[in-house]
This record gives sequence, structure tokens and C-alpha cells, in this order.
Amino acid sequence: MDGKYLQFNGLLVPKETHSTESLKYAVEFQVHDDDVFGLTYPKSGTIWMQEILPLILNGGDLTPVQTIPNWDRVPWLEETRAALVLGDRSPPRAMVSHLPYNLMPSSFFTSKAKVIYVTRNPKDIAVSSFHFHKMASFLDDPGTFDQFLDKFLSGQVLFGKWTDHVKSWRDTDSDDRILYVTYEEMVQDLRGALGRMSRFLGRELSPEVLEKVANHCQFNNMKTNVMSNFSLVPKDLMDSSKSAFLRKGTTGDWRNHFSAEQEARFSAVIKKEMEGASFKFPWD
Ligand code: PPS
Repeated sequence: MDGKYLQFNGLLVPKETHSTESLKYAVEFQVHDDDVFGLTYPKSGTIWMQEILPLILNGGDLTPVQTIPNWDRVPWLEETRAALVLGDRSPPRAMVSHLPYNLMPSSFFTSKAKVIYVTRNPKDIAVSSFHFHKMASFLDDPGTFDQFLDKFLSGQVLFGKWTDHVKSWRDTDSDDRILYVTYEEMVQDLRGALGRMSRFLGRELSPEVLEKVANHCQFNNMKTNVMSNFSLVPKDLMDSSKSAFLRKGTTGDWRNHFSAEQEARFSAVIKKEMEGASFKFPWD
């Protein structure tokens, strides 16, 4: 196994941002009823949720998103920063996580904590992840795009197979406290998605505040926000001259990367693994 990763219940996680202690912290974490999670498979809209959640929970106050780096503002539960910043955070605490449902802390299952689960077209996820592996030195070189697709489909990537992750969160007995949102609907109608999220969290925003939050969370605005675009991370760890973290922010970029053969192979695997699933996605 590559020296850049740890194994967590069979899932790969990068050592740069995770440790045995941070994973133990996540497993033992005491979830409160008013905690809010942005849950994603990697490259599905995590840092977007790190921008959105504090804005909704603070009634549109831009201060946190303008002054606190995203990884401390809304930390990943399983990463090393969580223990440092969540301890004395006043409620409601907002977190993001890439954990599959079954690996959430046991206290989560008896709590009333709410989850916004963001899903994205897996073809676009694979493309985004491929470019991320090129710019992040703490990840394996992805190889060719074709080689990376094989790794993605077999789950030899961060947090395992996309299909396992999605199924774990869609087929749960907690879905009354989970809001399912797609990246695609956020791109198409961010204001509408933010309205649904704020109502779900019991923090409905006025039309004016909603407009302000939607504007702030536009791709181009986040791309220039130094507290959100990872430009504070040293270049030897994340090299934006190879690929920006906020890279394109669009839907359907997979069409610029997949050959017809790759598309057929990818779709066949995903279709087979999703057979019998009780839900449908809007993408082909
Ligand atoms: S990670 O590494 O798992 O935390 O990555 P994640 O944040 O989940 O996903 C990164 C992709 O999300 C895009 N992104 C956005 N798209 C549209 N609008 C906004 N505001 C936005 N913020 C982040 C980001 O550009 C990555 O997608 P790609 O396709 O690579 O551009």
C-alpha cells in the first residue's frame, strides 16, 4: 500500500490530513442533536457546503467565510483539524464528512443531527478527482485518465467506491433527517437549493439574504475567496499551477475527458452496481 494513505475500515484516506488519532476521534465523537453535517463522497461539493452551512446558520453573516479558512470553519469530522476546532465550538456545530453511513460515530444514530447529502454525477467526480490527484502532492499520481478510471471503478481511491457511498446514505432508516441534494441542481439553481437547505435546517432566510448568500457562493466568488480556494496551502502540497482546486465548477465536463469506450465501460459498471437501488439520479 502506498505510503501516502492510511486504511480506515478498508477505505483509503490521506495521511497528510488524517491520522489514527483523528479517525478514532471521529469514531468516538459525541454528536449533538443540533449538529449539522454536509456529507459527500469526495469531489461532490464538500467545500461548497463549507461555504454554505455557516452562511445559513448565521443568517447570512459573511464574517466566518471571509475570515476563517474552510478547513477550520467547517472541519472534516475525520480529519486532524476536527479535534482542534470542534471542542469549544458553540452550537450549532457545522461539519463536513466523507464517511459512509455505516462508519458514522455511534452517537450519530441516536441523535437528531441533520445531514445534507450532496451527490454528483460520478463521471464528473472521476474527472475532478483525476485533476485533484495531479495537483495534490499528498495523493498518488493518478496515472493516465484510463488507469485512473479503473482505480475509481474498483474503489482503489479515497473513501472507496462511489456506488457503496451513495447506497449507504440513500438506503438508511434515518432519511427523515437527511436532505438529498445534487451538485447539478445547485449549479442550475443555487438560490432554490439554498432555500430548501435553509428550510430543512429550520433557518429560513429572507429573499434578500438568500440572494446575498447565493451570490457569495457562486463559483467565481468562491474561487477568489482566499479563505476557500486553498491558496493558503503551501504550493508543495497543492499546486494550483497544475490544476486549481476550484477548477471548473460545471456539470458534464466528463464529455471533454471520456472516450466512447470509457463512457460505456464506466456506465456499465455503475449501472450494474446500482441495480435494485430504490432511487434514481437525474444524469445519464
Ligand atoms: S473535496 O476534495 O472532496 O473536498 O472536493 P469537493 O469540494 O467535494 O469538490 C470539488 C469540486 O467542487 C467544485 N466546486 C464548485 N462548483 C460549483 N460552484 C461552486 N461554488 C463550487 N465550489 C466547489 C470544484 O470546482 C470541484 O469540481 P471541479 O469539477 O473539479 O471544478
